[in-house]
Amino acid sequence: METELVVIDEENINTEAEKAINHAGEIIKRGGLVAFPTETVYGLGGDALNPESSRKIYAAKGRPSDNPLIVHIADTEDLKLITEDVSETAVKLAKAFWPGPLTMIMNKSDKVPLETTGGLGTVAIRMPNNKIALELIKASGGYIAAPSANTSGRPSPTVARYCVEDLSGKIDMIIDGGQVGIGLESTIVDLTSDVPMILRPGYITADMIEKVIGKVSIDKTIIDSSSTLKPKAPGMKYKHYAPKGVLTIVSGPQDKVVEFINAETEKAKAEGKKCGVIGTDSTITLYKADTIKNLGKRDDENAIAHELFKALREFDDEGIDVMFSESFDDSGIGMAIMNRLLKAAGHNVIVL
Ligand code: TXA
Ligand code: MG
Repeated sequence: METELVVIDEENINTEAEKAINHAGEIIKRGGLVAFPTETVYGLGGDALNPESSRKIYAAKGRPSDNPLIVHIADTEDLKLITEDVSETAVKLAKAFWPGPLTMIMNKSDKVPLETTGGLGTVAIRMPNNKIALELIKASGGYIAAPSANTSGRPSPTVARYCVEDLSGKIDMIIDGGQVGIGLESTIVDLTSDVPMILRPGYITADMIEKVIGKVSIDKTIIDSSSTLKPKAPGMKYKHYAPKGVLTIVSGPQDKVVEFINAETEKAKAEGKKCGVIGTDSTITLYKADTIKNLGKRDDENAIAHELFKALREFDDEGIDVMFSESFDDSGIGMAIMNRLLKAAGHNVIVL
């Protein structure tokens, strides 16, 4: 299959861009697939109400079909068609955070096929904060099922070039809207339990949600590698976000971390391996690896979130075999950063 590629500037959706978005909407209405930018990561979109489209999404990503998709909407009113009932809690959260990086899990209506929800009676829904995404959702009939637009298991794409790499030839169209704003997937909150529960941490933190609806709980499996419990979001049990080489997180006092990583990269280099390091402004000049990625200032969590997946993907581009990353504070959005980093490293952590 030939994959069309169009470039659209989110800040300048002119007539030509509108035409392209309408065309993409027609593709989705006809049962085709389009990768598009959101504010979190790129999504791989198909008609959420068409079981055949969902099947195609799983096939294009190589994703297990028990891993449900998120339905993207552009109008809060559209919740009525796809959910059993819209609770007061859902309305409050939608008002506070939509459009934005929050996904809510609610009981699904009969309109949503089980193919979209991985066989579950619940459905995950969000309204993305990206003009291209919102226009596309409207042009395609209002309901786009979209997982991240990567091959299953690889880091989510934060630039279109990685959608091209993973999905070219497998889907109808890719919309390149530049580098995404946030860089980590949305926060997922399950509203079907007595106390709402965060199943995946993201830019919207537990504190931010609690200010709007009161007490929320957090799925224990999010950060804790020793937990034997099954994560509540089916997708969180899979190996994820992983670069092709071996990644180790090193935590401890800064000078010790640098010393340890430099000694390890020396050893790996002696064995003929290519090494990469993920560091920050304050350490970046101290490392001796082949490739060094600077995620920015250690206390600027948004910058770290923005750069993390890109760094992991670039290591793959550069054929890096062995990687080390500094560890980050896990409060606030840091919980999302550490959750993704730990998964990328297969929970391989050295504490000095
Ligand atoms: O930011 C995002 O959420 C991006 C953009 C494209 O919107 N999408 C995304 O989708 O990250 P995906 O498919 O890569 O991750 C969806 C996660 C999976 O872990 C899945 O198991 C969980 O959401 N999920 C979806 N529906 C669920 C449900 N009904 N119950 C529990 N977990 C659900
Ligand atoms: Mg994903």
